[in-house]
Amino acid sequence: MLVLEGLEVWYGKIKALWGVSLQVRKGEIVGLIGPNGAGKTTTLNTTMGIVKPRGGRVLLNGERIDGREPHEVIKKGLFIVPEGRGIFPYLTVEENLLLGAIHGEAWRRRHETLEFVYALFPRLKERRKQLAGTLSGGEQQMLSIARGLMARPSMMLIDEPSLGLAPKIVLEVYKTIRSLRDNYKITIFIADQNAHRVLDICDRAYVIENGRVVMEGTPEELKRDKRIREVYLGL
Ligand SMILES: Nc1ncnc2c1ncn2[C@@H]1O[C@H](COP(=O)(O)OP(=O)(O)OP(=O)(O)O)[C@@H](O)[C@H]1O
Ligand SMILES: [Mg+2]
Repeated sequence: MLVLEGLEVWYGKIKALWGVSLQVRKGEIVGLIGPNGAGKTTTLNTTMGIVKPRGGRVLLNGERIDGREPHEVIKKGLFIVPEGRGIFPYLTVEENLLLGAIHGEAWRRRHETLEFVYALFPRLKERRKQLAGTLSGGEQQMLSIARGLMARPSMMLIDEPSLGLAPKIVLEVYKTIRSLRDNYKITIFIADQNAHRVLDICDRAYVIENGRVVMEGTPEELKRDKRIREVYLGL
């Protein structure tokens, strides 16, 4: 479904990605793990068209999408749940959700999708008139994911969903993400420093360090690797 080929990304004079290649197949949950500054966010943002690569290609169902603008990429079925959640604190929960219904088809079907999203996240329904900035961290993360669903994507890119959350809430968020794939067939590409959580739910994962993919495998394969165990899992 999604193919990244030899992505080279620069921020001014700093090179952030050095030939990143990876694939996400339809229906998979694919993880991207790596330390601070490794290039996880850059990889997701380049996929969405937020960052433009200087080299390499992004292919979605065989079609080249690098160079496209984010709103065009969204129309093709991709949506990002950004690092830091990107919610608008002074808008209500429902107003934030409606912002996710960003293209024509999603906007036309917004009432139906809103009902679906509220059924999935009853807490958001209870709080739909509340200002989003007054939600707890976990609720804000759920809101960010729920807003992503409002775009009716076939694939969601989720960036660092465990950021700043207590372990129990992180588990809940990850359970929700897994159910999006299991019950609603949404393909998931998820980046997180929290290797434990990612490896618990993904089918395959890539390890990125200093802008390069250094390893790839199933959770079982990666968990068996001595270095992964020491550096990422603390075992
Ligand atoms: N807008 C920017 N301008 C300049 N440098 C940037 C910019 N965004 C990212 N970088 C640099 O690119 C590199 C990769 O950053 P990126 O945010 O992709 O890492 P990350 O793996 O998502 O890290 P984290 O786990 O902290 O979120 C870092 O060295 C970072 O400082
Ligand atoms: Mg990041």
